Amino acid sequence: MSAETRIDFDPNAPDFQEDPYPTYQKLREAGPAVRNEAQGFWAIARYAEVKDALLQPARFSSERSFGEGRVAPKGILVIMDPPLHDEMRGLVNRAFTPRRVAALEPRIRSIASGLIDAFCETGRCDLWRDFSAPLPTIVIAELLGVPPEDREMFKEKSTQIASTVGPGGAGNNNTAALELVVYLGKAFDAKRRSPGDDLMSALLAAEFDGRNLTQEELVGFGLLLLIAGNETTTNLISNAALLLDRFPEQRARLVRKEVSIPDAVEEFLRYDTPVQGLDRTLAEDVRFGDVQVPKGDRVFLMLAAANRDPEVFPEPERFDVGRRPSQHLGFGFGAHFCLGASLARLEARVAWEELLRRIPDYRVSGVPRRLPSSVFRGLLSLPVTFTASC
Ligand code: HEM
Repeated sequence: MSAETRIDFDPNAPDFQEDPYPTYQKLREAGPAVRNEAQGFWAIARYAEVKDALLQPARFSSERSFGEGRVAPKGILVIMDPPLHDEMRGLVNRAFTPRRVAALEPRIRSIASGLIDAFCETGRCDLWRDFSAPLPTIVIAELLGVPPEDREMFKEKSTQIASTVGPGGAGNNNTAALELVVYLGKAFDAKRRSPGDDLMSALLAAEFDGRNLTQEELVGFGLLLLIAGNETTTNLISNAALLLDRFPEQRARLVRKEVSIPDAVEEFLRYDTPVQGLDRTLAEDVRFGDVQVPKGDRVFLMLAAANRDPEVFPEPERFDVGRRPSQHLGFGFGAHFCLGASLARLEARVAWEELLRRIPDYRVSGVPRRLPSSVFRGLLSLPVTFTASC
């Protein structure tokens, strides 16, 4: 192994999380697969290798990369391999087609504008607590069909779980996962007694392999949708809020409508990718350039580093809302490509249409607090001030 192919960085160090991008550049330059001996994984930071790996889900296994001793009910697509993964995914695909998702727009807009109504007169708010956290939580809760009074509880649990997944995670938060498992078990039981027009009822009625889903599979689906539908979209909105504060000229282009919000959302996803990387375990030996990585080793597919690869994105360190980076990997790629991508794009578009219409001059007014996570890039607090107007 040459000296350049080893860089030990700590993905959980607060300094790294504050600004991981210089490290990503070093990793890309060091080689196609860079050993992190201290953490026990290989960093894959170049676009070509990350995308190639995502196209080979059987060789780059998601199932095997899930740590021992974690609470993981069956039915969690994101840690399943083909062919079972593909069959199970078919069950929920229909709920997330662009057409079905588009029908949610009026409701999403009314939730977003209701949240802004609650703080716009005061001239200040915590944009994370009062807007970017509750919006996706309410949307996914309504889609699933869980009662409104439980939303805060599962937002709290899903944030706790988000801070512990990924390489060198601060330890698995089994308590939070178990609480959600118990909660969802009861919620499915209640829904079985009185079904409605929601995703939980659709999952209860779904047939897989000539049978209904088991209780464990149902809970697994529910858990994944709650967490995946929650944390990532919150982070996309909060990260964008920080970026538009840091780059006022880019915000001005949006306010003047020179650039469309959907285009800007793609640049938000590229420039400060909410899911920074994905864990995989090799099901066989794999060669990356001149580096041979043995079967059983863990690789971390660094989406955020790939999204700044100069081989694919000219001047990658420049934030440009008009860039249209259609080939970014912010939602992954291939078999596990984000099931909720249309929903996330819709929520982010509506969120920014409403924020730029109602509080276009917001400024960050305190120190934002980062979500401690090696995988999910986001915040836990974002104080802002703006011209009060309602
Ligand atoms: C900005 C918001 C979002 C981002 C950045 C994001 C990102 C991702 C990424 C990178 C993956 C690939 C995981 C892998 O390959 O291991 C993924 C998978 C997934 N996402 Fe999202 N996601 C977002 C929003 C959502 C929403 C709103 C939902 C659902 C309501 C959702 C549901 C899922 C599911 C179910 C999977 C697993 C798909 C599979 O394994 O086949 N996501 N997401």
